[in-house]
This record gives sequence, structure tokens and C-alpha cells, in this order.
Amino acid sequence: MRYVVTGVGGFVGAHVCEALLERCHEVDGVDAFTDYYDPSIKRANAARLARHDGFQGLELDLAGSDLDDVVAGADAVIHLATQPGVRLSWSEGLAVYVERNISASQRLLEAARRTRVPRLVLASSSVYGNATGQTIGEDAPTRPFSPYGATKLAMEHLASAYGPNWGLSTVVLRYFTLYGPGQRPDMALHRFIAAVAAGRPVPLYGDGEQVRDFTYVSDAAAATFAAAEADVAPPSVFNVAGGSPTTVNDLLGLVAEHVGRPLITRHLPAQAGDVRATHGATARARRELGWQAEVSLDDGVKLQVVHQLGGG
Ligand code: UGA
Repeated sequence: MRYVVTGVGGFVGAHVCEALLERCHEVDGVDAFTDYYDPSIKRANAARLARHDGFQGLELDLAGSDLDDVVAGADAVIHLATQPGVRLSWSEGLAVYVERNISASQRLLEAARRTRVPRLVLASSSVYGNATGQTIGEDAPTRPFSPYGATKLAMEHLASAYGPNWGLSTVVLRYFTLYGPGQRPDMALHRFIAAVAAGRPVPLYGDGEQVRDFTYVSDAAAATFAAAEADVAPPSVFNVAGGSPTTVNDLLGLVAEHVGRPLITRHLPAQAGDVRATHGATARARRELGWQAEVSLDDGVKLQVVHQLGGG
């Protein structure tokens, strides 16, 4: 199959492309190499992918380029490019989230429907809001707790409008706190490993009792290409969640254990936009995509530690 993947320089994009290329698919990989974090990390990911024969890299901004030629002829488009992060989307920060998450997605939907792309998979997250304790299924109310989440929900709504009106087959994946080798440097686990390894205090927001349904990146990649190929009926929205909700304090315990150094914490105020708990129900993904998470948090943290500290 010929895939077009957006955001290939990013953490998730690089893993998804690597997995597709290993399965002998052809991939056209798009990235704008924005500076939300150090773009040289993204360029290094794209350069690694370019060593595969089946990969073609394309540097362009989805918000301002003609996309018809980019997606025409693709068997599936996987849209992973995004302005990520819940905590920076307040105040003037929002404008860039609107452009990169809403406007860019709408332009891609337009190009996909004009060129009759058979399947468009879109990455979403942070749409459920501040639910505490319960497992959340895909039909639960969506009440984003951050402007970031509001832009991802708007993107979902655009997908559900384009789908039936234009015969476009869209699948939305709601990722839950992805982690693993190459994780974005602004995310908790990456920052925790770096701090513990250097003997620096770990920046801990709030009391550390917030819960996340951490999901290993290769599991998320497997769900993503399953979504690109599966014969699914609307509403095609799936949670992609690891299945072992864990507190940030317990995650810190795992980091200290696998890094093998003591933990020093620096307590900082709880951050606006941070939800108290996430726990995604994955029965629908199991039933319709034949997908379930395979990597335990303990194994996954160990793999990220080894990779991040240069051992793999
Ligand atoms: C992550 C992604 O950054 C979002 O793009 C995505 O939408 C979201 O997951 C999701 O799955 O919905 P988050 O859960 O906040 O957002 O992921 P982390 O940055 O890894 O933070 C996890 C927890 O650790 C949060 O409660 C956060 O407050 C805490 N944290 C983070 C710290 O205590 N210290 C830090 O330095 C960073």
C-alpha cells in the first residue's frame, strides 16, 4: 500500500512510519519541522526514515500548501501532525493550535475528499475532560479540559462532517499519553528520566496523584495501521489506551528503579488544563480493529530509559 503520513519527524509519526516501512509499504512522509521542540530531533527522525527505499520525505506546512498532489493516489492518509501539549494552549498560545490542529486538518480533509482518498486516519486526544475514576468509552460525553483538547475535538467534528457528506472514510484514534523511545522532550516521562539520571530534582506538578493511562508507542503504532486497513463502520472513533492507569507518583518510582538513582522531587503547582485521571475503554478497538495493548508500563519505562540514556 502507499501511505501518506503527516508529522513523520515527530515521536509518533516516526514510529508509525518505521513500522509501515518494515511491513514493506511505501510511505510519503510530510513534516513542517515546526519549533514546538528542537526541530533537529525531528530532522534526525526523518533522516533515519529516509534510509529506507520505500520512504519519500516532503517538507511542507499543511496550513499553507496545496495538498491535492500530496495525497492523490494514496491508499490511506494517516494524519499525525499536530500542535501538541495541553499546558501551553492557553492565552495567545491558542492561535497556533487553531491553525495547526483545526485549519490544517480541514485542508487535509478537503484534499482527501477531492482526490478520493480511500481512508483518512486522524490522531486525536484529550477530548473527554476531567473525568475521575471511571473507564471512559468512546460514546462518553466530550468536554475538553484544555484549549488544546477543544482544538482536537473540533478536528474530530470536522472529520465526522466530511465523512458522510463526501463519502470520505475517516477513522479517529484517541491516543492516551503515549510514551516510549523518542518521546517528546516536553512530556513527563522524558523529563523525569533526564532529571533522575542527572541527579536533578524532578519537576512534579500538583500532588502526583493524577492518573494517566500511559500507552506504549509501538502499541499505538499497531492500532494506527490497523485503523488504516480495517473494514470499520461509522462512528469510527477508537480509544488507544494502554490499560493500566497509574499515578504520576508510581511512574516516578519506576523511573528511579530503572535509572538506578535516587529520586528528588521539586513540587510545583498543579497546571491548568491537566486532568485528574484518564482511563480509556478499549473494547471497541479490540472488537473492530483486533487491537489491544501488549507492552506493560514496567517494560515500556525500562525500554525508554535504556534508549534515552544511550543504551539502545
Ligand atoms: C499528553 C500529551 O502531551 C498530549 O498531547 C495528549 O493529548 C495527552 O497526553 C492525552 O493523552 O490526552 P499529558 O497526559 O499531560 O498529555 O502527558 P505528560 O506530559 O506525559 O504528563 C503526564 C502527567 O505528568 C501530567 O499530569 C503532568 O502534570 C505531569 N507532569 C508532566 C509533571 O508532573 N511534571 C512534568 O514535568 C511534566
